[in-house]
Amino acid sequence: MAKFNENFLNLKESYLFSEVAKRVSVFQQKYPERSVIRLGIGDVTLPLGSTVIKSLHSAVDEMGSADTFRGYGPEQGYDFLRNAIKEYYKSFGVELDADEIFVSDGAKSDTGNITDLFSKDNIVMIPDPVYPVYVDTNTMNGRKIVYINGTAENDFLPMPDRSVHADIIYICSPNNPTGACYSKAQLEEWVAYALENDAVILFDSAYESFVSDDDLPHTIYSVKGAEKCAVEFCSLSKTAGFTGTRCGYTIVPKGIKSVSYDGKEMSLNKMWNRRQTTKFNGVPYIVQRAAAAVFSEEGRLETKRMTAHYMENARIISETMEQLGVWFCGGINSPYIWFECPFGMNSWDFFDFMLEKTGVVGTPGAGFGKNGDNYFRLTAFNNKENTEEAMRRFRTLFE
Ligand code: MLT
Repeated sequence: MAKFNENFLNLKESYLFSEVAKRVSVFQQKYPERSVIRLGIGDVTLPLGSTVIKSLHSAVDEMGSADTFRGYGPEQGYDFLRNAIKEYYKSFGVELDADEIFVSDGAKSDTGNITDLFSKDNIVMIPDPVYPVYVDTNTMNGRKIVYINGTAENDFLPMPDRSVHADIIYICSPNNPTGACYSKAQLEEWVAYALENDAVILFDSAYESFVSDDDLPHTIYSVKGAEKCAVEFCSLSKTAGFTGTRCGYTIVPKGIKSVSYDGKEMSLNKMWNRRQTTKFNGVPYIVQRAAAAVFSEEGRLETKRMTAHYMENARIISETMEQLGVWFCGGINSPYIWFECPFGMNSWDFFDFMLEKTGVVGTPGAGFGKNGDNYFRLTAFNNKENTEEAMRRFRTLFE
């Protein structure tokens, strides 16, 4: 009989958002007449922008004509999209080569898939709380994880501890779930730590388009030296409403080297290319055409409008927390609001309590790590009407 990967025994029974969906479904079966407002998983509600739709339509037409039909595309992404992303990075003062950019179906897959490149014996440093994919995928591989604590005292922005060694470091900024965002000086410290330890930083910038403060970095490559130690993952899911359309990109600079136990050097860029050409057949042509439209002048304006819409919801949620005297962070350079559970409850108890009393769904902080036990996350991705109604119901908990 085939033996299973025993590391799966070390995972929680279900993935965080599957557990949330399961509890909501039980609630809906129990109370079919009650309205549910979802501020749980960060799924967008605005439709794709008109520039994106136009590009998608014309790509669909191309697929219907023999002269413009496309079959297999390059696994790494079409040049038109890689070049558009390259130009986008120039707007942050960052110069990349197009062959350092790999188009993918999103940051979730790539932050998990990248683990293929590293030995099982590496020590992985992961902030707690954080997006659960980093922990789950490394647990599946049986790697040793050391956690760094994000707490209210450090504004949920843990900094490197020089007495601890790590080979692989995950950073998510603006952070999911806390909405906290590292400054350039803080990222400089992380890059210095990575270089001292010959470590690789896996930097998830999926929420960079929500950064509104001019002083905060959108990319880790704003820091000198990051091109020698950092891989960056980004996604159009939240930026341009691609959660269902699926497109993201991963930047693997050619300057990052990794070594084997007997000292053989490999380029991470070449290894990722080898991995992708073996296991991935690329993102559909029509989706890449839609993605390229996101980086056009008009597409970028559409993105700005979408972001402003969601950030108005973030303002409504933050204002409610302020008025109720609930401690929170995020909601400024991020679509997530992270708050302390009221009434001394733990986060799963508060999840059930709030759902039962108000029909509002959020995400329990415990799903992002032990430091999230007494915290809770709400997203700004619903529409304004629902967000206002959710906050009206939320206030009733305090009456
Ligand atoms: C979240 O709610 O944390 C995200 O939507 C999950 C994801 O991007 O996979």
